[in-house]
This record gives sequence, structure tokens and C-alpha cells, in this order.
Amino acid sequence: MMYVLLLCVLHIHSIHGQNADQKGKRLILRGRSNPCEGRVDVYNEGKWGIVGHIGWSENNSAVVCKSLGCGTVVSFDIDFRDNYPANDLVWADEIKCGGTEQNLWDCEFPGWGVIKSSAHSHVYVNCSGERVTSVFISILFV
Ligand SMILES: *[C@@H]1O[C@H](CO)[C@@H](O)[C@H](O)[C@H]1NC(C)=O
Ligand SMILES: *[C@@H]1O[C@H](CO)[C@@H](O)[C@H](O)[C@H]1NC(C)=O
Repeated sequence: MMYVLLLCVLHIHSIHGQNADQKGKRLILRGRSNPCEGRVDVYNEGKWGIVGHIGWSENNSAVVCKSLGCGTVVSFDIDFRDNYPANDLVWADEIKCGGTEQNLWDCEFPGWGVIKSSAHSHVYVNCSGERVTSVFISILFV
């Protein structure tokens, strides 16, 4: 006698969440299990820092989401604080994106380390994500 057992497992996972340019600058959303949601951290000249909230806009958030392959902006918050450890370096502030830039650092800002924001407010972005759905079917013969 043979039993056929069909197992269908739906796997939803993400294919994104990191972004780096050739000069070693990086951007990441930290602190959540979803790589398309979290505090905006940037890496430049060997150091991670946060971004300042002054002048932060929907368009800045759009550049973050797009550059990570994370789709469009669901929401953002410029007065955000969570328990995920942050380096108190505010690396870039008063960032003004038009929305079409490839990377956050292609937007206008006064310069790395030129800041007015305090390190107490963090910038949070939640993106729609672009999830890939794949179906695995295993057939077990008993
Ligand atoms: C934000 O993006 C929209 C759509 O791309 C654009 O029309 C608008 O001018 C941008 N705003 C600023 C302040 O750059
Ligand atoms: C973030 O966006 C996702 C959709 O991509 C949504 O399911 C989730 O609830 C949002 N998280 C928060 C905290 O709003």
C-alpha cells in the first residue's frame, strides 16, 4: 500500500535589504526582522551613523525604499526611538531628495557630519517590500 502525502509550503521571503555603492557607502534599515522596515542607518568612511530628522521628507523615504529594492513608502516617522543600539553619530542631516535619486547620499545635504539634529530622534521608514513568493511541493511516498 502506498500513501502519497503532498506537502505544500508557502515561503514568503525578501530578496533585498542591503544596498552599497562602489565607494563603500551603505544604507540599512535596522532593528526589525523585516529588512524593509526600521531605523535608517548609513555607513561612510568606515563608520555607521544615523540620519538627522531635520528636513526629512516622504521623498527621502522613497529614495531609501527604492535603493534597498524595498518598493514604496508605507510610512515614516521622524521622531522615532527604539531599543536597537545606535551609534550616537548623526552622519547626515537636512537631506533633501527630489525622489528620483539612486541613493540617499545623491540627494542634497550639507555634508557628512554637518549636522543640526540631535542624536535623540531617529528616522524610521517602513517600505512596502517586494516579496517573492515561491511554492515548494514535496511528495513523500510511505
Ligand atoms: C517629491 O516627489 C514628488 C514626486 O516625485 C515631486 O513632484 C516633488 O517635487 C518632490 N518634492 C520635493 C520637495 O522635492
Ligand atoms: C510596515 O509595512 C508592512 C507592509 O509592507 C505592514 O504589513 C506592516 O504592518 C507595517 N508595519 C508597521 C509597524 O506599520
